[in-house]
Amino acid sequence: MINSVLETVIQQVRPLARQGRVATYIPELGKQDPDLLGIAMASVQGEVWTAGDWDRKFTMQSISKVVSLGLAMVEIGEERVFSRVGVDPTADPFNSIMRLEMVAPHRPQNPLINAGAIVTLSLLPHGEARERFEAVRDLARRLTGSQDLNLDEAVYLSEKETSDRNRSLAYFMRSVGVLEGDIEDILDSYFMQCSLSVNARDLAVMGATLASGGVNPFTGERVLPSKVCRVLRALMATCGLYDGSGEFAVRVGVPAKSGVGGGIVASVPMRYGIGVFGPALDPKGNSLGGIAMLEKLSQELSLRVL
Ligand code: DON
Repeated sequence: MINSVLETVIQQVRPLARQGRVATYIPELGKQDPDLLGIAMASVQGEVWTAGDWDRKFTMQSISKVVSLGLAMVEIGEERVFSRVGVDPTADPFNSIMRLEMVAPHRPQNPLINAGAIVTLSLLPHGEARERFEAVRDLARRLTGSQDLNLDEAVYLSEKETSDRNRSLAYFMRSVGVLEGDIEDILDSYFMQCSLSVNARDLAVMGATLASGGVNPFTGERVLPSKVCRVLRALMATCGLYDGSGEFAVRVGVPAKSGVGGGIVASVPMRYGIGVFGPALDPKGNSLGGIAMLEKLSQELSLRVL
């Protein structure tokens, strides 16, 4: 039954999804096929259903911020993380610098916007970019249950060469004392984590692991403490789609996190994880088809929790 619901959702959303635009500010992402649409759903009991282009690989981009935040909470503790980064939603785009400059003490408002994710990564107790990245990648592999989670070298280099905005955010934060350390090295690990390559099924399993309170339903491993999962889901619900988070909560009603690669991970507490993929984005940088698929699925299977 669920397989046919997923197939129907893809067919219904396809005409709308075509109206989105692939991200071009990272040149390599501009090469993606805007017509791709994939969906996967995993239960906390360990069932999985897939449809469309569910096995196509794409980069996690901002979805990786959930992983690095979870890692930071485990490695240095919730209190230390949230003494450096806030927990409030913004009404600004994901890479905005405006509020950071205007509001003292210039602390990023939450860990899911770019500034907050860069500060979060800087707090990890690992020596260099590669080590920080490998720690994030290893947690991502355990959350998804997939060993086949690797760096997309072309996307990584493409972002590294063009990311003036993230550099501006980072150097500004250093100038006001909220970011410490080797800025280029911290940014390098940020670009690497954003370029981790996954498919929709990987995201569905990650969502199910967060939904179950931290136990991966497919490997049986406890990957994160349940309290960390509660915080991650709360921040996904309030900040996961940036300035589109309120509208998403009204339309879909499920904690979720988007990325400009076209993926969205959603987590329905104690029930399901969902991964959607559609690289054509809306003006806020969220997958147009992905949001529409999640909205239809939420209605069809009564998934709303917000
Ligand atoms: O830093 C950036 O701009 C990208 N690597 C990630 C942004 C992103 O995914 C925003 N999400 N919708």
